[in-house]
Amino acid sequence: MKFFIDTANLDEIREAYDLGVLDGVTTNPSLMAKEGISGDANVKAHYKAICDIVDDKVSAEVISTNFEGMISEGKELAKIDDKIVVKIPMIKDGVKALKYFHSEGIRTNCTLVFSAGQAILAAKAGASYLSPFIGRLDDISYDGLELIAQIAHIYQNYGFETEILAASVRHTMHLIKCAELGADVVTCPLKVITGLLKHPLTDSGLAQFLADHAKAAGK
Ligand code: E4P
Repeated sequence: MKFFIDTANLDEIREAYDLGVLDGVTTNPSLMAKEGISGDANVKAHYKAICDIVDDKVSAEVISTNFEGMISEGKELAKIDDKIVVKIPMIKDGVKALKYFHSEGIRTNCTLVFSAGQAILAAKAGASYLSPFIGRLDDISYDGLELIAQIAHIYQNYGFETEILAASVRHTMHLIKCAELGADVVTCPLKVITGLLKHPLTDSGLAQFLADHAKAAGK
């Protein structure tokens, strides 16, 4: 299972990478805006800076919503670095763009996926990654994890090569359940990754070990 961090913040990306468990990064236009990144040159420079930190893939999302725009933007993004994956929204022209990029050998991440039907379309079109948004489904009282289970089952039935990249992950139980269900990748905020560290028995056990050691050493 791969861990991607869901942010455009360079400090958070470095912190997760330094922990030794980070594979790649996902961004979206909202996350880029949150860091105050705008303008073509700044956006490209920021993606390059992210690619220079991590070893695996970095998703960079197109803004265009028509086929021609997505193709020209995606080609530009793919030139930034070999690690770039072009993120394409699950809309009609997006499906065509997924197919085009597949034929050109450019990796894609199909984003804004909320149903099994959309997942089938993306896989048929040759998406490299599929991003079902589990937290946003939970927000509207649909079970996001159930969607991951459904897609994993369908992809296994047909041997689809598209990797399931669970997105909109909000807490550690989301991540653990995604691992149980066989998601290939989980993308989440830094606090979800560091949250996996926490257990009160680890803290109390360590405190006891250190206290016993100090006692035996006569401190
Ligand atoms: C990542 O690819 C998605 O854009 C992101 O996980 C969405 O997360 P959110 O629902 O917390 O905005």
